[in-house]
Amino acid sequence: MPDRPVLVAQLSDTHLRPRGAAGVGGLDPAAALADAVRAIGRLEQAPDAVVMTGDLADGGHDEAYALLRELLAPLSMPVYLLVGNHDAREPLLRAFPDHARLASGAPAGSLQYEATIGPLRLVVLDTLAPGHDYGELCDERLDWLEDRLGRCAGQPVVVAMHHPPFATLIEPMDRIGLRRGGERLAAILRSHPNVERVICGHLHRSIEARFGGTIASTCPATVHQMHLDFDPASRYRWTREPPQFRIHAWTPASGLVTHLASVPPFDGPHGFRS
Ligand SMILES: [Fe+2]
Repeated sequence: MPDRPVLVAQLSDTHLRPRGAAGVGGLDPAAALADAVRAIGRLEQAPDAVVMTGDLADGGHDEAYALLRELLAPLSMPVYLLVGNHDAREPLLRAFPDHARLASGAPAGSLQYEATIGPLRLVVLDTLAPGHDYGELCDERLDWLEDRLGRCAGQPVVVAMHHPPFATLIEPMDRIGLRRGGERLAAILRSHPNVERVICGHLHRSIEARFGGTIASTCPATVHQMHLDFDPASRYRWTREPPQFRIHAWTPASGLVTHLASVPPFDGPHGFRS
């Protein structure tokens, strides 16, 4: 029997607002996250960890992070959080004082950290540029990444960050993409072939691209999705496409294999001979 895979669920862009406040298009971000948490609870195999790739709150309010904490309570596995352009570092830290790794952020002022998920090393980056929707990685944050990766040679690594470091070809989103640090990030990753994946949020869609000698991907949101439009003159638009999340599964033989999972309701599973 092959080993059971190590499973990392990825939720993204929950955009929580203070309790009772509707989200984009009247959608309820709290109910949407509760549905996603239930979906994780109903998986055939419980994930070993959950990573949430930013835009946890829509406006960085204390009440939204308190609500996040409450909604994540049913999850029994470790949950790793990181910031997106809609987040604020201090209110997030205030709501999760026991998230020791978040509080250990380095370099000072950023929320970067690393964690162990079975045989996997999770390295979390902070791309927040306060006051802006675009992202950045300054030299200090990249120095830290280089140092961390230098210490886990040969170990499978997942790098998590909010802003994807690659062009998605959805122009309104690329305008608020990672504006600084991308080239050096690619060079660092290229010299560490044990980086299995760079997992991102921000796009509210599932996208994959080659980056820095590895595979980089984005994750759909639990709430509204971004409209798929490759017209360079397209406007920033959203849709009610169904919420999805990622499951990253790792075995020694396969490396990291990434799936998309949908948030119920949907029919099935059914056998084929019933
Ligand atoms: Fe977002």
